[in-house]
Amino acid sequence: MPSTPITPSRRVGSAASSSDIREILKLTEGRSIISFAGGLPDPATFPKEELAEIAREVIEEHGESALQYSPAPGVTPFREALAGFLNSHGVRVAEEDEIVVTTGSQEALYLAAFTLVDEGDVVFVESPTYLAALNVFKLFRPRLVAVPIDEEGMRTDVLEEKAKRLASEGYRLKMIYTIPTCQNPSGTTMSRERRKHLLEVAEKYNLVVLEDDPYSFFSFEPVDAEHLKTMDRSGRVIYLGTFSKILSPGLRIGYAVGPESLVSHLVQVRQLVDLHSSTLSQYIAMEAIRRGVVDRTVERARRIYREKRDAMLEAMEEYFPEGSRWTRPAGGLFIFAYAPAGVDTRAMLPEAVKRGVAYVPGSSFFVDGGGANTMRLNFSYPSVEQIREGIKRLGRLLSEKAGQSRPGA
Ligand SMILES: Cc1ncc(COP(=O)(O)O)c(C=O)c1O
Repeated sequence: MPSTPITPSRRVGSAASSSDIREILKLTEGRSIISFAGGLPDPATFPKEELAEIAREVIEEHGESALQYSPAPGVTPFREALAGFLNSHGVRVAEEDEIVVTTGSQEALYLAAFTLVDEGDVVFVESPTYLAALNVFKLFRPRLVAVPIDEEGMRTDVLEEKAKRLASEGYRLKMIYTIPTCQNPSGTTMSRERRKHLLEVAEKYNLVVLEDDPYSFFSFEPVDAEHLKTMDRSGRVIYLGTFSKILSPGLRIGYAVGPESLVSHLVQVRQLVDLHSSTLSQYIAMEAIRRGVVDRTVERARRIYREKRDAMLEAMEEYFPEGSRWTRPAGGLFIFAYAPAGVDTRAMLPEAVKRGVAYVPGSSFFVDGGGANTMRLNFSYPSVEQIREGIKRLGRLLSEKAGQSRPGA
């Protein structure tokens, strides 16, 4: 070890800031704790046999290419198959669009932020929103501006009002980051009207829209709204997708689709980061699309997750104390719950872990504070039995805490 400690850059320092929650959740590792904290797909959805067969064939028949370096934007026939897949699922890939295959959509988030955001630029985010996106954005020191959500998704009236004020104060408005369908963490889906309004605001203030969409493919209930990418008529939406929840996260295949004029910058940057995404994974994903494996996996995932969501909703109905409420997501992997007023879910977590159940306190997902009584509950990974037992334990704990926090109790 050097005698004088070597410190990482300030940028890394802020990204790696230690998190008390991470420390508490570490305690769950290797113990028989029912965890609602992660966001892992159910391994039962992985099409193991079909992927094993595809992997063998791809290597035997296309090994020279599939095991080789490949172009930065992605393997050309895979991008073509992907464009067809997206168009057939209602995501409009236009003539003037380009697709870049990324190493999970997490990389696409990083590339978009790196490419678009200068220090001090205004980036509008939903409140609450996906924590890992917030952490990526923070690397580039933007002015993150929280826009609340309700059961119809982002409050675009608030977005417009904030955009107007910040523009008049001379801020550079740059981007709206949204997860319009089956949002993480809230599970809400943005209404058609709000989507239209969001795009109007984006046009008025010349904002890029980053539409992050890991969940719409396997929504359990019909979603009565088009993708922002499909509604976009002024070439300002970059759509991010991923195979993580519809095939396998281990393949690390995501993508960004948008106007060539924007996406070409993402491609330039990615050449500096990782040259290209795994060629082998791209070949496997391509064959999985062509053979209908992705569509079949989506169907299976939809069935499994709907059952688990319903099990969690039912158990919450039975065990959560009066004064709690929660979302009823049309898809995705999470339910967002509001404990009775006065309950601090962050302070409660160590006790929950002691009783063998974990969750993520919701306050982590808010940029502007707030959400002290909220929690994000994952239903995709635990079994139905674990869901019932975990919610029962959590409900009991919440009842005790709610009782304690009631005046005079
Ligand atoms: C909203 C959202 N965006 C992006 C990601 C990143 O997914 P991946 O990098 O596996 O594609 C996730 C993962 O859970 C997510 O929930």
